[in-house]
Amino acid sequence: MKIAVLPGDGIGPEIVAQAVKVLNSLGPKFDLETAPVGGAAYDIAGHPLPPATLALAKEADAILFGAVGDWKHDTLPRELRPEQAILGLRKHLELFANFRPAICYDQLTAASSLKPEIVGGLDILIIRELNGDIYFGQPRGVRTSELPLFKGAREAYDMMHYSEPEVERIGHVAFDAARKRSKKVCSVDKANVLETSQLWREVMIRVSKDYPDVELSHMYVDNAAMQLVKEPKAFDVVVTGNLFGDILSDEAAMLTGSIGMLPSASLDKNNKGLYEPSHGSAPDIAGKGIANPLATILSVAMMLRYSLGMLDEAHRIEAAVQKVLAQGLRTVDIYTDGTTKVSTVQMGDAVVAALS
Ligand code: IPM
Ligand code: MG
Repeated sequence: MKIAVLPGDGIGPEIVAQAVKVLNSLGPKFDLETAPVGGAAYDIAGHPLPPATLALAKEADAILFGAVGDWKHDTLPRELRPEQAILGLRKHLELFANFRPAICYDQLTAASSLKPEIVGGLDILIIRELNGDIYFGQPRGVRTSELPLFKGAREAYDMMHYSEPEVERIGHVAFDAARKRSKKVCSVDKANVLETSQLWREVMIRVSKDYPDVELSHMYVDNAAMQLVKEPKAFDVVVTGNLFGDILSDEAAMLTGSIGMLPSASLDKNNKGLYEPSHGSAPDIAGKGIANPLATILSVAMMLRYSLGMLDEAHRIEAAVQKVLAQGLRTVDIYTDGTTKVSTVQMGDAVVAALS
């Protein structure tokens, strides 16, 4: 099986190296091929997603992605910024279904900024639509305002839209996922204000008719942001659009103690996928050897489960991560009194040792 390895920028190369080490220690041989992406690719090839990298991603069975973004590329025009690499991969490969689980591990309850009784045992799944919405909507741009009050001023605009089939396909993904969990879907929108959200809600209700065993509820996004910190365990599967999902998944991540723990999968209709940690490239700590590699290692577990059909191996990795946490090993982001601080490499080594 061919896996495209795209480490990217910032802490990307450090954490991906640990995930690769874990993958290679499993036994079965994977054909791993590495290519530059993001700012690193811009520096070499003049584009954040060079044709060769895209071609590799297309032909691979799965993609392991680190993170993109770096201060030195912040001033580039938008189409050359590192973020365009991940947006381009999502769009070109039609990776429309983004799975972002937020699990609070027992050993890390104290690392959350919320009270232990609020987050202890938390296990929710955010399913974010990844190919549509205001992220990709056309037209977009900068023009001269025609508003009477601001006539002649420079104005920027973006377009939010969703078509019925786009909502339907992410709806099915969410209901199918809920069937394997506690059979509850909460669809998050802003239907009290937006046309897009009204259509979204209408389609979700229609899709739900195919799943009489799954309970559908709806929530406005502002309320959802509030309920996520008030009573997060009331949620199970949350399905939402690209923009709301971006914001809510960062919020949900913090419930678990550290965004450094959260993996993600972005899948196409055939379950081919791109796997990446939910966090970013963290250029401020790059090269220091202190980044938490567990989100990327857990992303490998998701890859084995969703794209490669290797459920036993997926489970073994997750158990190994539980084991190193139980041993008290912590990177600095999840460190609390009485635990042992370890580096990125030491954490990777500990997971490999726990596997065997
Ligand atoms: C994410 C990130 C990306 C997004 C950025 C890097 C374009 O925040 O994966 O959540 O907004 O989707
Ligand atoms: Mg984000």
